[in-house]
Amino acid sequence: MITEVRLRPLRNADFDRVLELERQLFGRGAWSYGMLADELGALGRWYIVAEPERLDRAGDQPVVGYGGLWFDGDVTQIMTIGVDPAVQRHGVGRQLLTALIERSRKLKAEAVLLEVRVDNMPAIEMYRDFGFQVLGVRKRYYQPENKDAYTMRLELAEAAGTAADAPVDAPVDAPDDEAGDAA
Ligand SMILES: CC(C)(COP(=O)(O)OP(=O)(O)OC[C@H]1O[C@@H](n2cnc3c(N)ncnc32)[C@H](O)[C@@H]1OP(=O)(O)O)[C@@H](O)C(=O)NCCC(=O)NCCS
Repeated sequence: MITEVRLRPLRNADFDRVLELERQLFGRGAWSYGMLADELGALGRWYIVAEPERLDRAGDQPVVGYGGLWFDGDVTQIMTIGVDPAVQRHGVGRQLLTALIERSRKLKAEAVLLEVRVDNMPAIEMYRDFGFQVLGVRKRYYQPENKDAYTMRLELAEAAGTAADAPVDAPVDAPDDEAGDAA
């Protein structure tokens, strides 16, 4: 059982584990290696992983969650968030989402946007709990599953006019990237 997780930037060495979780969590809709690599190399992305501080069993512990956003200069978009099914409902998703929202505030984004499958109740409940509101429905947004998505939005109270102090293309491993302190 997890007692605590710490958040840190996603690194290339995490790819295999993240892709394994992707397949477990999203099945046919999972990102491929190429999609993940392209995503991480694109402008304005910020990706983090959650790794256990301590488990009951000894040895190296695999990453148990991950998430990322895209900042386009105005708003952030949550690109993905996922937690190992073995440790779901222990607060890891909440920690990841909190960090992504805090990062969005730091970037001075006006709002946080996301898409979520209309039948994904655990995620919808989590987003609602953080104050996200449904904007509308995107028909057949998820392919190849052919499922509709809700678009959800969280207004950020302290939205400001400039993001000059927060470069959108900073690499996730940048020394000033305080992912580990964000949770
Ligand atoms: C959505 C997801 C990331 C949540 O991660 P998690 O670590 O289980 O979430 P937490 O334990 O931090 O729970 C946060 C809140 O989410 C909601 N929630 C999580 N699982 C839920 C469930 N099975 N049923 C109802 N609400 C649920 C609750 O509001 C919960 O708060 P609470 O425990 O205080 O009631 C996880 O279920 C997951 O990885 N799902 C598959 C991938 C996915 O769908 N990602 C979202 C794509 S848009």
